[in-house]
Amino acid sequence: MSPAALSPEALEARLAEAAAAVEETLDALLPQGEGPESRLWEAMRYGALGGGKRLRAFLVLESAALFGVCGTRSRRVAAAAECLHAYSLIHDDLPAMDDDDLRRGRPTTHRAFDEATAILAGDALQSRAFEILAEEATHENPFTRCELVRSLAAAAGARGMAGGQMIDMQAEARAASGEPLRDLGAVAHLQRLKTGALIGFSCAAGAILGGADATRRQALEAYAQDFGLAFQIRDDLLDHEGDEAEAGKRLHKDEEAGKATFVDLLGLEGARERASMLAAQAAARLECFGPAAEALKAAARFAALRRR
Ligand code: IPE
Ligand code: IPE
Ligand code: MG
Ligand code: MG
Ligand code: MG
Repeated sequence: MSPAALSPEALEARLAEAAAAVEETLDALLPQGEGPESRLWEAMRYGALGGGKRLRAFLVLESAALFGVCGTRSRRVAAAAECLHAYSLIHDDLPAMDDDDLRRGRPTTHRAFDEATAILAGDALQSRAFEILAEEATHENPFTRCELVRSLAAAAGARGMAGGQMIDMQAEARAASGEPLRDLGAVAHLQRLKTGALIGFSCAAGAILGGADATRRQALEAYAQDFGLAFQIRDDLLDHEGDEAEAGKRLHKDEEAGKATFVDLLGLEGARERASMLAAQAAARLECFGPAAEALKAAARFAALRRR
């Protein structure tokens, strides 16, 4: 650790600050609806507001800060990333997917409302994410806005999150028939798409907003790749050894489904070691930014060690 390294307490404070900022922005960008469709806005707000670590928002805000981007802009992009993420969680929890009742410490959206409303809330949150990016208040340059939209679309679609969810569903079906994925490369590919792609967008967004050169954008993208894997290995570890009340969601699901995870393939100790190695590697990717990147470096350590 360098002498300037951010302490875990200082990081917690920065995360809380980012969470409060994005909460306020989301509250403004997802208004209470009026008229007959107001139930949809209510479900969107239920799924997107009032919970979550807001790590993707934090990554957008911190990566944008490296380039001196104004907070009003980066908060909008952070809110868009969190809308997209909230949509992915609402759909992930549906009976047709993971069939979960608890998310962020409270009933999942389809439990609090109903399935059709949850599907529509996910759909509408996804659309709202792109609408926010495309609005002029996000950036005065239409090419920059277009690159944000393109980049989020790539992260969310068949080559990103949705593609990863597809592989995950198939892997679960294979596990149920006694043939789980046995190959670390295949599991890493699944996770890179399912979780890594949106984390990748969140880090690249700062570089896009700040008009960064290719070298700096690539450094952030390399950081995001390592961060994403460390984050997901920790998710797998938490599924084994986490505390449900702290995590705010049901655990031991991977085990029950017989799914091949990093823990399954590397063992508990091996998975812990891999996560901390990746966190250190992620931090090293940001050397070119000097002390300005201390919060992002500390966030990589947090991703590998978090309890929620
Ligand atoms: C949960 O993501 C889904 C995964 C990709 C593992 P987070 O752990 O970031 O969930 P919130 O936003 O903090 O609830
Ligand atoms: C979901 O992964 C990742 C998404 C793209 C939403 P998981 O199914 O492992 O996430 P949790 O464990 O329910 O949060
Ligand atoms: Mg899932
Ligand atoms: Mg799930
Ligand atoms: Mg999980």
